[in-house]
Amino acid sequence: MKDRRAYHWLILGGTGSGKTFTARQIVRQYVRKPDFVVIVNSSSQLAEFARRRVVVDMSALDRDWTPRELAATIRQHGAVHFEVSPGADPKRLQAWMDALGNACMALGRLGTDRCHVLLIVDEAQNYLSQKVFARGMRRVFAEGRKFGVDCLAITQQLAGQGGDMIDMTVRRMVSVLVVCPMDEEAERQRVMRTWPELRDPGILAFPDPATGRPGEYMVRDRGSRRAVLVRVDSAGRRFAVPLSGSPSPPRAA
Ligand SMILES: Nc1ncnc2c1ncn2[C@@H]1O[C@H](COP(=O)(O)OP(=O)(O)O)[C@@H](O)[C@H]1O
Ligand SMILES: [Mg+2]
Repeated sequence: MKDRRAYHWLILGGTGSGKTFTARQIVRQYVRKPDFVVIVNSSSQLAEFARRRVVVDMSALDRDWTPRELAATIRQHGAVHFEVSPGADPKRLQAWMDALGNACMALGRLGTDRCHVLLIVDEAQNYLSQKVFARGMRRVFAEGRKFGVDCLAITQQLAGQGGDMIDMTVRRMVSVLVVCPMDEEAERQRVMRTWPELRDPGILAFPDPATGRPGEYMVRDRGSRRAVLVRVDSAGRRFAVPLSGSPSPPRAA
């Protein structure tokens, strides 16, 4: 998880599992000084990394946005938090996300070896699901690396309402996956089906803000094909357990 090894990140976990905490750590420690930071969500979480807040409500989504104007706003302020209404018409939301993805790519620089644009998509089940996944976002995930555009996606759910899933492009292109604790059975099953080398996220302990006890998590690095389980002992110290990268053996009939 050093320097330019990590490009796209995905953080999964239930409510209070430490996703936002982990995202802050990643931004502070692992992402090398981006020139531009773009945050998308419907709350004020992680807004401390932005210098400007832009509210994109239903009526704002009704009009057409160009990558050029979004890129100009980001260039002007350096770090922008777009507070985007998640309940909008999927087609309008998709059009806006398309413009944003293309704006990020326009701000990137071909052949760069460091992060120029860091795009943080919080509540990703609303913005990167199959239903609203835009071509501009596909470009970010598939080609962003070449342009120094990194994405950090955070979500409670791989699948949203109506079976709509976080788009396959996102899941395939993620360089580092962090799985925080989760209770929900269906979501746990989904994680284990998607990444068979991981353990059941239901065994992970949640962080405890009252005592400051850190949470447990799993990390999977696509480059090294390694996965690790990070646990916390009774004294509150972390220790790592390597997880096998090999797929589970075929089951006897
Ligand atoms: N590694 C950690 N060490 C100590 N406290 C943590 C850790 N991770 C999370 N917390 C605390 O646990 C609470 C929930 O974490 P948060 O990141 O807000 O969860 P989420 O975003 O998944 O809902 C917060 O009060 C946070 O400060
Ligand atoms: Mg959070």
